[in-house]
Parts: sequence; C-alpha cells; structure tokens
Amino acid sequence: MYSVIILAAGKGTRLNLGYNKVLYQIKNKTILEYSVDFFLQDQDFTEIVIVVNKHDEIQIKELFNSKNIKIAYGGITRQDSVYNGLSLVTNKYVLIHDGARPFIDYKDIARIKETVKTEACVLVQKVKESLAKQSFNKLKTYLNRENYILLKTPQAFFTEKIKKAYELALKNDNMYTDDASVYMHELNEEVTTIEGNEFNIKLTTEFDLKILEEIL
Ligand code: CTP
Ligand code: MG
Repeated sequence: MYSVIILAAGKGTRLNLGYNKVLYQIKNKTILEYSVDFFLQDQDFTEIVIVVNKHDEIQIKELFNSKNIKIAYGGITRQDSVYNGLSLVTNKYVLIHDGARPFIDYKDIARIKETVKTEACVLVQKVKESLAKQSFNKLKTYLNRENYILLKTPQAFFTEKIKKAYELALKNDNMYTDDASVYMHELNEEVTTIEGNEFNIKLTTEFDLKILEEIL
C-alpha cells in the first residue's frame, strides 16, 4: 500500500494570477484535481495527503469527497510543507508530488511503485539544451549536459527513511528544494533516477499554462 503527499500550499508568485495557481481551471477542472483524481483512481493508493494553505482550505476541501484524503497545513517553504504532510503518512511507501504537475503518466507511476519497494527513486528528464554557468550576464564555464539531469516529481521513498531524513534536515537546519536531495544528503543514501514522460511539466509561468491548456 502506498501514500501520496500532494503539495498545494504554495503561492504561485511567478505565475502571478492573484490566487494559488493549483486552483486555476483547465477544462472545468482545477490543476490540483488532475493529480488528486489520478491517485484516487489507483486502488494501490489508500492515503492521499493534500498539503494546503489555511486560506485555500475550504475551497480545496469542497473539491474532494473521499475517506482516503487527509489535509495537512503548509509551511513557509516547500520543505516545511512536506514535513507537515509526512506527519500524517501511515503507509510503508510514500510518493511526494507537486500539485502544480497535473500531467501524470500511469506508466511512470507503475515504474515508481515497483522501484520504491527496493530503492528510493525520482522521476527525471534529460537536459535538452546546452548548459553553462553565468555571472553578471557573461558566460563562464560550459557544463556537459550528459552529466546533469532535471528532477521532477513524484519522488518515492520508504516512509520511515524519508521521515528520518526530514527530521535530520530540521535538526541540522539544512534547506533543500526537493525530497531526493533531503534523502540523499541527510541519510547519505542513493536515489535511483527514472526517466519520465516529458509532458510532466510544473506549472510555473504563463508559458507552462499555454502548454497545459493544450495537453490536458
Ligand atoms: N508548495 C507548498 N508549500 C510551499 C511552497 C510550495 O506546498 N511553501 C508546493 C506548490 O503548491 C507546488 C509545489 O510545491 O505545487 C512546487 O512549488 P512551486 O512550483 O515553486 O509553487 P509555488 O511556490 O506556489 O510558486 P512560486 O515559487 O512561483 O511562488
Ligand atoms: Mg515556490
């Protein structure tokens, strides 16, 4: 049995809609509903923890009606939000997913479900363009894109281990931008990469919105 934490407690500052971007509607359905509905339909997920801002709580609760859904409150950073969500997780394995990623491929999820039984894993995508460091608008070092990978979600873990990793990060006052890095750095353990569907984009800017309007 699996749990999934779906993060919806951000502000959507970069998209600048004036409200939380996960509540934007495409084809009469909010961005958040796309991922929550996916996991509601998969019988292997018996626990879905949605992490929300107090401000959006009523609106989000009205969208869903399932005994499998639990609500946690978000924090200032994504890391705080995940930490709060983890406190409600009771199953052996947990997937952590950005609510801002509505396009979920069932084949990716099938691979994650299988892989997490033996190792922590994360969906990734290859870097398609050239990559370099810059400083004050001047190119500095060129990086070989073959050595780099873009990290996406879901990211999946053995629940007890990721809880431990988050406790350590809190204790050591370390900040990270995703869950695999918390796991890898705090526990000094490996995370397996799984190349996922390219359409699994994170709604961040208006450009992403245009793409999602086309593919959802
Ligand atoms: N998130 C969260 N709690 C936070 C910050 C982010 O639950 N304190 C969630 C967002 O709701 C989103 C996911 O984490 O689903 C990825 O974050 P991001 O794309 O950065 O969303 P926002 O923080 O909302 O956007 P922005 O950074 O532009 O303000
Ligand atoms: Mg953010």
